[in-house]
Amino acid sequence: MRIRKAVFPVAGLGTRFLPATKASAKEMLPIVDKPLIQYAVQEAISAGAEELIFITGRSKNSIMDHFDKAYELEAELASRGKGKLLETVQEILPPGITCIFIRQAEALGLGHAVLCAWPAVGDEDFSVILADDLIDGRLRPCLAQMQRVYQEYGTSVIAVERVPQEDVSSYGIVETQPVGPGLGEIRRIVEKPKPAEATSNLAVVGRYILTPRIFKLLERTQRGAGGEIQLTDAISAMIQEQTVLAYEFEGTRYDCGSKLGYLKANVEYGLKHPELADGFREYLHDLTADWSQPAGEKVVKVAKK
Ligand code: G1P
Repeated sequence: MRIRKAVFPVAGLGTRFLPATKASAKEMLPIVDKPLIQYAVQEAISAGAEELIFITGRSKNSIMDHFDKAYELEAELASRGKGKLLETVQEILPPGITCIFIRQAEALGLGHAVLCAWPAVGDEDFSVILADDLIDGRLRPCLAQMQRVYQEYGTSVIAVERVPQEDVSSYGIVETQPVGPGLGEIRRIVEKPKPAEATSNLAVVGRYILTPRIFKLLERTQRGAGGEIQLTDAISAMIQEQTVLAYEFEGTRYDCGSKLGYLKANVEYGLKHPELADGFREYLHDLTADWSQPAGEKVVKVAKK
């Protein structure tokens, strides 16, 4: 029981990052030196995925290029003896992994994007990863943690985490019946409820393992929150027929769809980067030491410089 196919909905317009995303994909924004989509792809591959299905839209060609072989660049790096960089470029996609790109002509929502993957997924269980939810799974990547739950229960599994009550209207929110530690069966799921209407603060984050039944249900799903075809609404229909588990993953999620989350991720990943960590830590240390100085002393320090 291994999930072989992973779907990456990458057709969103990325309006929250304009103007950076005017002509390029938000999924190509780097966290230190790798684009967000590469972290998502690596997570899927480390959980056993072999077929990567990207649901793309306008201005997303850079994603296709990123996972394609770059003959000229590789030849150039090889002739200049830049072996380490050549390896970095060649490692982006390990051998034996297939990429499929499907164009979502209209941005009709996450549910519609997932439905576009049907011809490529067919009749097997699959995963969905939203690249702007960057998850540092610490001991094990989030999708690999979910895969363990899937192997034990053989049902759909959705990653969730607790969020502050005032933030519930940014997420799909679930109510669950406990099954085990950090694991519950979803009894109710609502897309972006108003804080006053939410009876839970357990939020869906961008990792799903789903059965192909979801496609039939998505076909029938009407436009919901924000006028979009919501994956959450199809999952809400699915819980009437099948068990869907909510799994509280171990690790830290960075909401890289928001500027603050994106900056936090860059700082945290910078502090862990093998080549940058020491210099960056020192820089942050000096910077924050400056901030904690009383105003008077700060002036003296500046004057000294
Ligand atoms: C999507 C889903 C939502 C989920 C969120 C996680 O919303 O529709 O249920 O909680 O991702 O990031 P979006 O952030 O695309 O509006």
